[in-house]
Amino acid sequence: PNSQTPVIAIDGPTASGKGTVAQKVAQRLGFHYLDSGALYRLTALSALRRNTALDDEHALAKVASRLNCHFDSGHIFLSEEDVSEAIRAENVGNVASKIAALMPVRQALYGLQLGFHRAPGLVADGRDMGSVIFPHAVLKVFLTASVAARAQRRYKQLIDKGISANMQDLTNDLSERDARDTHRSSAPLKAVEGAYLLDTSALTAEQAVEQILGWYALVKTV
Ligand code: DC
Repeated sequence: PNSQTPVIAIDGPTASGKGTVAQKVAQRLGFHYLDSGALYRLTALSALRRNTALDDEHALAKVASRLNCHFDSGHIFLSEEDVSEAIRAENVGNVASKIAALMPVRQALYGLQLGFHRAPGLVADGRDMGSVIFPHAVLKVFLTASVAARAQRRYKQLIDKGISANMQDLTNDLSERDARDTHRSSAPLKAVEGAYLLDTSALTAEQAVEQILGWYALVKTV
């Protein structure tokens, strides 16, 4: 990838709507899309299936470095198996959040993430896209929403899927995961200097997309 190929970094907490928004921005611009959280989720799923000890950082890093995954039209494959649904399970997300705090795991996934940087451009979503993986991104967005708004969205998603859910449990779970992602020492979730803050609590996904496209139109011409 050359340095002329633009990267838009979109970071933010869990259930902030990043995934939906980042994917739509990529579609509108005809750019590639990196769901970096999926890589941590794939590592978690793979480790769970192999019974890898969740406190053995070197074994987990090995699982991460040997991930046999690919992304195809919105679907995510692990060794040719479509695991798009499986990696969204709550327990996989929780394990992903835990192993993402381990530096060897983050290092093992570094090169894989850089590989997504291809012409004509990339929209990358995660926690450390603007701070660590793509520090030269032309546009860095920090997407947030109140815990209440995020719990409400997660609740609706689960109910729509026919899964029973409880607002209080979801709120506690989100707060716990936020605390872990924010306070870990390796690549903690935080808005980098120069990031554009976007609070989506009262916005639709479409409105958030328009805002980001507007910012991109401004920065790409300077
Ligand atoms: O965005 P997500 O919920 O799919 O991410 C799952 C976990 O992976 C999240 O709890 C934190 C971790 N993660 C990370 O540490 N760095 C990233 N760039 C993306 C995700």
